[in-house]
Amino acid sequence: MPDLWQDAMDHAVSLARTAGTLVREAVQNDMKVMLKSSSVDLVTKTDQKVEKLILESVKEKFPTHSFIGEESVAAGEPCKLSDSPTWIVDPVDGTTNFVHGYPFVAVSIGFAVNKKLEFGVVYSCIEDKMYTARRGKGAFCNGQPLQVSDQKEINQSIIATEFGSDRHVEVVDKIFSSMRNILCLPVHGIRGVGSAAINMCLVASGCVEAYYEMGIHCWDIAAGVVIVEEAGGVLMDVDGGPLDLMSRRVIAANNKMIAERISEQIDACAPLRDDVV
Ligand code: IPD
Repeated sequence: MPDLWQDAMDHAVSLARTAGTLVREAVQNDMKVMLKSSSVDLVTKTDQKVEKLILESVKEKFPTHSFIGEESVAAGEPCKLSDSPTWIVDPVDGTTNFVHGYPFVAVSIGFAVNKKLEFGVVYSCIEDKMYTARRGKGAFCNGQPLQVSDQKEINQSIIATEFGSDRHVEVVDKIFSSMRNILCLPVHGIRGVGSAAINMCLVASGCVEAYYEMGIHCWDIAAGVVIVEEAGGVLMDVDGGPLDLMSRRVIAANNKMIAERISEQIDACAPLRDDVV
């Protein structure tokens, strides 16, 4: 049976590669840093330029498709997922890394139809790693198949997480108490590369057992969701329920047991949903 969305996925891979070249070139140069929701929520001209490039190309090639992009939403566009084929894009995931030249920066492109994610493309542009996954067809990095870790013991696991960009003390306290609970299970270690999308690809690659975060956005994780699932992993909300793409909370893990062990330790907070205007 022909794959209805293969053309869109091929286009996403090509756009991610072009966008990645722009990001790599920009990382060498001085950049103007602007602020969004707070003094640690950064955006650059490159975020905006890359999103414009992707948006214009999608509109030209697939005029009926919808688009949710980090910078479009920041500029006031709605963030509502409908049944229409929808591109969910983070032009530069790891903007803080990008600003500092810390070498983990990704272009993340997810694609959903009838609210179900169909493919994910994450291009880790400094590492030159192209992660791709089409629902039902497996996950790959530079064409090599990905498989999550088969570790079942939480105390032999590495867990990835991030501090996010909310510096309200009540939120930071919850982030630290969750991290303390998990660290003391104990686990082998806690890591985080500063990009939600790359953290998820590391789960898919099998080198960390799980990644969780509260405060992420749908564009940070949409592509990664398909990549993790297609590598054999699972997605969950931090409260142990099903993942809700708009809830700004995620656990991505190699298996349900590890995901549940993490969920039990999380002191959950409820950030304002992405789809609340
Ligand atoms: C951020 C990164 C970071 C995560 C934040 C995200 P951005 O995305 O993924 O690792 O901690 O929650 O917002 O702003 O660089 O696209």
